[in-house]
Amino acid sequence: MGGVVLGIESTAHTLSFGMVDLDGNVSDSYSNLFRPKEGGIHPREAADHHCSQVSNLLNEVTKSEMFKENDVEAIAFSQGPGLGPCLRVGASVARTLSKSWNIPLIGVNHCIAHIEIGRNQTGCIDPVLLYVSGGNTQVIAKSRDKYRVMGETLDIGIGNMLDKFARNQGLPFPGGPKIEELAIEFTKVADYQNKLIDLPYGVQGMDMGFSGMLTAAQRRVLAGDSLESVSWSLQEHAFASCIEVAERAMAHTGKTELLLGGGVACNSRIRKMAEIMCEERGATAYWPEKKFCIDNGTMIAELGRLLHNVGFKTSLEDSSINPMLRTDHTKVIWD
Ligand code: ATP
Ligand code: FE2
Repeated sequence: MGGVVLGIESTAHTLSFGMVDLDGNVSDSYSNLFRPKEGGIHPREAADHHCSQVSNLLNEVTKSEMFKENDVEAIAFSQGPGLGPCLRVGASVARTLSKSWNIPLIGVNHCIAHIEIGRNQTGCIDPVLLYVSGGNTQVIAKSRDKYRVMGETLDIGIGNMLDKFARNQGLPFPGGPKIEELAIEFTKVADYQNKLIDLPYGVQGMDMGFSGMLTAAQRRVLAGDSLESVSWSLQEHAFASCIEVAERAMAHTGKTELLLGGGVACNSRIRKMAEIMCEERGATAYWPEKKFCIDNGTMIAELGRLLHNVGFKTSLEDSSINPMLRTDHTKVIWD
């Protein structure tokens, strides 16, 4: 029998389990997404959702071929950043499984897991990462023993901005994919490229901001511009901000790979922009499949595997969650 690391993700709206074997081969994730009936995500409600789904999902995982054919060698969980009540669910389940299966517990940094699953899936080695999710928007590059944040949003995450815009237009969560559909519709309009609605652009130095463009976009809808045209213009502005900062990070560091990660990296337009920017500077753009861009348990298992390989374990005393954990708080002790 071979061995696998089991990963648990529960930072926000997604509860998910996944596995990676000791050679780095990945399983699909077993996930359940909390969708609020109205408004944004309420941490307590999301945590209740996760509690109610844990045993079903765990049952599914234990019935999978990969689980049955392997020993579970370690259990990894998202220690932070994220919503406290949600993180606590994953951490409690991980502690329980670690104790009852008598295997090491490994607390991992969720942001870094987005990077490591991307490296696992695409084969890129030392990329600049454009991490674009609901709560996070960061341009990251590794230097010595840390993934350093070179630039980030100064207000809200890009995904939360898209979700909020969508919600205000009566579209359900998650709004990002729906905005993408509306934007694609607009690209069928004749001469659409010359119909960009001017919104406040969100780059300051190496940092970004999205709340100004959100407010302006909402005003344009109220003023009568079509939802399709505003969705397209909003995407163009938001994604161009991220790609601009990512390009500058590549220029400063001399790195020649760009890796996209986080839920917004599912978007075909940001992928295209990344590709164009990289082509223009002789670099290469990478992204994992959609199922590994959004939050998933497999990415937690992958970072768990890398840590397990170098003998890292989290003691019970050190296993408290850390909702404010940052990308650059974690020392990179693996290859
Ligand atoms: P994190 O904790 O890392 O901030 P998260 O909890 O926001 O992550 P993810 O699953 O990484 O979760 O990202 C979810 C976000 O991705 C949502 O805001 C959603 O609207 C957005 N998203 C998903 N698909 C698309 C898409 N095709 N286009 C734009 N945004 C998308
Ligand atoms: Fe995430």
